[in-house]
Amino acid sequence: MKVDTLFRLDGRVALITGSSQGLGKVLSRGLAAAGARVVLNGRDQEKLAKTTEEFRSQGYDAYGYAFDITRKEETDPAIERIEAEVGPIEILVNNAGIQRRAPLHEVSDETWNEVLATNLTGAFIVSRKVAQGMIQRQRGKIIFTCSLMSELGRTTTGPYTAAKGGVRMLIRAMCVDWARYNIQINGIGPGYFITEMTRPLAENPEFNAWLMGRTPARRWGDPEELIGALLLLASDAGNFINGQIIYVDGGILAAL
Ligand SMILES: NC(=O)c1ccc[n+]([C@@H]2O[C@H](COP(=O)([O-])OP(=O)(O)OC[C@H]3O[C@@H](n4cnc5c(N)ncnc54)[C@H](OP(=O)(O)O)[C@@H]3O)[C@@H](O)[C@H]2O)c1
Repeated sequence: MKVDTLFRLDGRVALITGSSQGLGKVLSRGLAAAGARVVLNGRDQEKLAKTTEEFRSQGYDAYGYAFDITRKEETDPAIERIEAEVGPIEILVNNAGIQRRAPLHEVSDETWNEVLATNLTGAFIVSRKVAQGMIQRQRGKIIFTCSLMSELGRTTTGPYTAAKGGVRMLIRAMCVDWARYNIQINGIGPGYFITEMTRPLAENPEFNAWLMGRTPARRWGDPEELIGALLLLASDAGNFINGQIIYVDGGILAAL
């Protein structure tokens, strides 16, 4: 057994949705550093081009494809182009996600639909198309960015919690349908990491005090601390891990 290459991804094509910034960007850098050819994504062309250029200037094999994961008419052709131009997608990271905070009784239909469309349905739309190729090739890794809200509620995060809880069961549903084709479907579950999405929380002293009390490790996570779990699930090291979520949360889910 070659332990030194167990986590390597040399030449494998990885599509990471929502990777023009935030956790997706850091996760993509981790995959690229392990040898993957990374396909970056987001809706904003300019931001995506800037991130792709940054990766290339760092010597990574990176490509940018802008599309909105909630729109099948954009995602299906984009995935076909990626597979024709970069190569068959071996690793898909369903990472794009949004948060809209309000108590549930004040959530509009538009907000509910927007959050569910992005965080749950969009991931399904992309996975369905990518899995069709993976099934033909009898090989693939699908990894979701989950959340503590895949397990627990928190006030003002109702649509997000419903969507991320749905993702937890979508992982299991995909596993029972697709594991037979040598596709591994799993999730990483970040605790609290500072990104554009969580910056308002990080800048709120009251929230910070609550989080330090609630997190056994007594700190925010550094996004790079997610890379180890991702590489386990994206590489041959995880070939018999299926339907699981690995939480990287400083112990939050272990504590009451
Ligand atoms: N930050 C945390 O502490 C934390 C904790 C737990 C889970 N998460 C999860 O981690 C993931 C990334 O979060 P983040 O904090 O890195 O967020 P972020 O900084 O807001 O980045 C979100 C990314 O997703 C893209 N995106 C949003 N909607 C999209 C769509 N419809 N189609 C394609 N791309 C889209 C954005 O680019 P455009 O705006 O250009 O489309 C951006 O690149 C999310 O699933 C989130 O729920 C984050």
